[in-house]
Amino acid sequence: MRTCNDPDDVTAWARSWRSEGARVGFVPTMGFLHRGHASLLDLAHARCDRVVVSIYVNPLQFGPSEDLDRYPRDPEGDLRLCAAHGVDLAFLPETLYPPGFSTRVRVEGLTSVLCGAARRGHFEGVTTVVARLFGIVGPCTSVFGEKDWQQYVVVRRMAEDLHPGVEVVAGPLVRDDDGLALSSRNRYLSAADRVRALSLHRALRAIRDSREPSVPALLEEGRSLLEVDRLDYIAIVDPWSLAPLERVDRPARALVAAFVGNTRLIDNVAVDPR
Ligand code: PAF
Repeated sequence: MRTCNDPDDVTAWARSWRSEGARVGFVPTMGFLHRGHASLLDLAHARCDRVVVSIYVNPLQFGPSEDLDRYPRDPEGDLRLCAAHGVDLAFLPETLYPPGFSTRVRVEGLTSVLCGAARRGHFEGVTTVVARLFGIVGPCTSVFGEKDWQQYVVVRRMAEDLHPGVEVVAGPLVRDDDGLALSSRNRYLSAADRVRALSLHRALRAIRDSREPSVPALLEEGRSLLEVDRLDYIAIVDPWSLAPLERVDRPARALVAAFVGNTRLIDNVAVDPR
């Protein structure tokens, strides 16, 4: 496995692989990799001949009062996991914004709801860095986790608009044995908070498994099961437009975002029509 810090080296390697006819897969990450990321690398491998991973804690997607400074980092562990999952090139840039960089990429509409309403500017930071990374790597396929469902939908839109050659694929959400969605931020949770954090999945499971078609009734049941300190939202929406639904009469997505202690957690499940 190669490691690179310089964007030009990454561009050159990816270009040489593509010129040999290889399909280049790309998994962007912020590091502190876990089994969820490993499954994205495996998916990239299954679909492509070469796999590039980026490890970069993107300052643009953090708000002023968020956890940029204490975001967990473990570059050595990350590189071990990447090597064990057959990554060809790990890209660890010092920065992706050289002096003078002043472009922002914003997807309208999809980013004004759910996490976009709770975290102003977050998705602009995500689409700016992902567009920049797509420009550097030039992947055929890029893999994102379903755990950040809204991020996946927003990035798909951005790619269709600006990088139509990149196929954006979602990897299934990976959970711990107790049901907690894997996230680098889980390490902030105390033992007691971790128990309460399980209520997010419990609420979503109740919505998914119910036969009730009325969304207000389903959301009331979901809310009653949450043991959180602050609820940003719980919602049942169209999976692609993210528009709220009144009844689950077509495939839908139930999503939740809430603080347990000081840790903001998100989770989501697919909901079948009933
Ligand atoms: O999902 C993440 O880890 C980040 O939002 C991403 C896609 C790597 C962009 O910084």
